Amino acid sequence: MTAATSAQATGAQRLSAPSPYTLIVLPGDGIGKEVTAEAVRVLEWFATRRGIDVNLRHERFGAEAYHATGHFIKEEVFADLLDVDAVLFGAFGGTLEANPIPADIRRKFGLLRIRQAMGLFANVRPVKALATLSKVSPLQPHVSADVDLVVIRELIGGIYFGEPRGITLLENGERRGVNTQVYTTHEIVRITDFAFALAATRRGHVTSVDKSNVMESGALWREEVKARHALYPGIALDHLYVDACAAELLTRPKKFDVILTDNLFGDILSDAASAITGSLGMLPSASFGAELRPGVRRAFYEPVHGSAPDIAGKGVANPCGAILSLAMALEGTFNRPDDARLLEKAVDATLQRARTRDLADPALPVVSTQAFTDQVIQALEVLDGSVD
Ligand code: NAD
Ligand code: IPM
Ligand code: MN
Repeated sequence: MTAATSAQATGAQRLSAPSPYTLIVLPGDGIGKEVTAEAVRVLEWFATRRGIDVNLRHERFGAEAYHATGHFIKEEVFADLLDVDAVLFGAFGGTLEANPIPADIRRKFGLLRIRQAMGLFANVRPVKALATLSKVSPLQPHVSADVDLVVIRELIGGIYFGEPRGITLLENGERRGVNTQVYTTHEIVRITDFAFALAATRRGHVTSVDKSNVMESGALWREEVKARHALYPGIALDHLYVDACAAELLTRPKKFDVILTDNLFGDILSDAASAITGSLGMLPSASFGAELRPGVRRAFYEPVHGSAPDIAGKGVANPCGAILSLAMALEGTFNRPDDARLLEKAVDATLQRARTRDLADPALPVVSTQAFTDQVIQALEVLDGSVD
């Protein structure tokens, strides 16, 4: 069998041989499909032009797959997620009001199940304000300028997974909805170590965010983070309540380097922080789990945004979150920091010339998801000649 036919037979796409890296691509739902297709085109450029050896396998996952097949993901694909070098993901969700999926099914078999099975405890969400976008940020330029922070969100604990949970019918006919915010020591210590280690590679400052004035789980969080700090004398640590943090993020975002927080607060604060950049469509993320082999963690790359049913299928979605998630993969999985910087530069250069609708600037053309990516690839061609 030729390489091409064996790749077809296995559903894999061989970009170049030999192939030490294996990636599963899960475009998912809505604009997840649109932006992931563009990130894959950019990855194909890196495979061909910068010699990254990678085998891509495209699989279905999400609400649309569920409506078509009765399953979010094929069980054999689910099992293989644990073995590959990385997963490139788009978005999960969809038009739930028009096409409902029972909440317990979504929770048991959807994105949260994948995060839990892959042990993806650390979700890394960088928020960088580009000078190029200062005009379209809703924050004043002097507030957003030079913001370079990262939200470290604990991803497989807290209220997302705590028991008891559910909706019950009470004797008086009322219904009662319950969720449980719960953290144990090892879960806090694991994500705290991750945040301190990351801070050591940046400006050395961690802000731990909790609600310890009200919640016992928050009080424990703060105590454990403080205790762990003793092992990291080179790192500055401070603490904020989450409500105060939300305000500071939008008034004095420059003060932050690494924000360490729980699952729910991290979800909310990172979407809020996206306003600093100008659009939710700008934010990438990487989630890391246990070590696959020494120094290499199980990894899952996805934009922060969701399936955006309001714009899905129109070709207007901003692909930057997905493309910058690929940049995180170039660094985090392929160990190619230079290529990651090259891609970030190409995105910045493209934003100086064209925009998707969410970042519209009267001085620049508004282009489609695909046309924007064409320009990113052109910028890569140009920069590749000048950067190594
Ligand atoms: P969303 O992130 O999909 O969209 C919020 C708003 O931001 C919408 O107005 C959307 O048009 C806009 N937006 C998002 N990404 C954009 C992009 N790349 N370019 C331009 N505009 C963009 O959040 P939502 O509407 O609250 O949720 C929709 C569905 O997505 C739900 O089912 C939700 O559960 C799911 N969701 C999934 C993920 C994920 O897969 N990680 C993340 C968030 C939401
Ligand atoms: C995210 C999303 C998810 C979350 C949903 C889709 C379960 O909002 O990745 O930010 O809440 O974690
Ligand atoms: Mn979210």
